[in-house]
Amino acid sequence: MIIPANSQNILKAAQLIQSGQVVAFPTETVYGLGANAYDSKAIAKIFAVKNRPTFNPLISHIADIDFLAEYAQTDERILNLAKKFWPGPLTFILNRKDNNPALDLACAGLDKIAVRMPKHPTALALIRASQCPIVAPSANKSQSISPTTAQHVHKSLGDLVPMILDDGACSVGVESTILDMTHNQVVVLRAGGLSAETIEDFLNEKVLFSDGNPNKPSSPGQLLKHYAPKYTTRINVLNPEADEFFIGFGPMECDLNLSPNSDLQEAAANLFLMLHMAESQNTKKKIAIAPIPNIGLGRAINDRIKRASYQ
Ligand code: TXA
Ligand code: MG
Repeated sequence: MIIPANSQNILKAAQLIQSGQVVAFPTETVYGLGANAYDSKAIAKIFAVKNRPTFNPLISHIADIDFLAEYAQTDERILNLAKKFWPGPLTFILNRKDNNPALDLACAGLDKIAVRMPKHPTALALIRASQCPIVAPSANKSQSISPTTAQHVHKSLGDLVPMILDDGACSVGVESTILDMTHNQVVVLRAGGLSAETIEDFLNEKVLFSDGNPNKPSSPGQLLKHYAPKYTTRINVLNPEADEFFIGFGPMECDLNLSPNSDLQEAAANLFLMLHMAESQNTKKKIAIAPIPNIGLGRAINDRIKRASYQ
């Protein structure tokens, strides 16, 4: 059921979370499917609803930076990044503190935990009202396109979710950037809504990118086939075929344009929306996407469309 994210409904959603249910809610990146991070049964529901084949670790969402030290080992660099970019589209992979067994399922038994503070008033209000960290993968069936509206959630999960809090379209539109902070050098495990350049400028140091073996990813969710539309998708296309639904970038003729002015932020916000639109039409049964510069948020966009085009 889709309901507006007003304060009364946020309280109802928090009651569902506290009673072990799952709830879909907006964040600035994508809609999440939330559950109490301490409730293994509720977390198991997330995997069942999404049809995730294995227990892949989940991001714990918090609403207060002070909670970080309860779950994770921190240092000055981590806290400086958190103070600068939280709330926002940034997730840290950190060493767990005391390996609190209640968080074992959320972390899939790993000795590392993923934590993020989302920048969306509804998400923050829901976490506060639930009085627990909320684990939340994107609120869609495993391997399909991530949801950036409440309608996308409903299209993918239907009534498997008792409540979908609707607060319009997500402003960032691609998932958070995941940084592994457990090594000397910061490693980007997933390019996302905060660009690597911005992070490097702030830290005044270079980050590494984990592009390693896709079949043995260090972030277990980073498998090659992901975000897949139902139609075959080609990328880096300048001259689409007549039977291809063409998603453009920059000034060009196309069926939909991610950003006619070549603005990467606008393109990121439109990406999943337009992939959903492309797979909802029936006239052209293939998708082609124009080249996107691989800088700033373009890196996150290219990462997602590369997976979307994987055969
Ligand atoms: O923007 C986002 O991050 C969204 C919104 C809802 O917050 N969430 C999201 O969650 O994208 P999900 O589950 O689709 O992606 C989380 C990624 C997965 O690739 C997972 O493998 C990785 O984070 N991950 C989680 N915990 C980890 C851990 N302890 N070590 C390594 N990777 C981890
Ligand atoms: Mg996902």
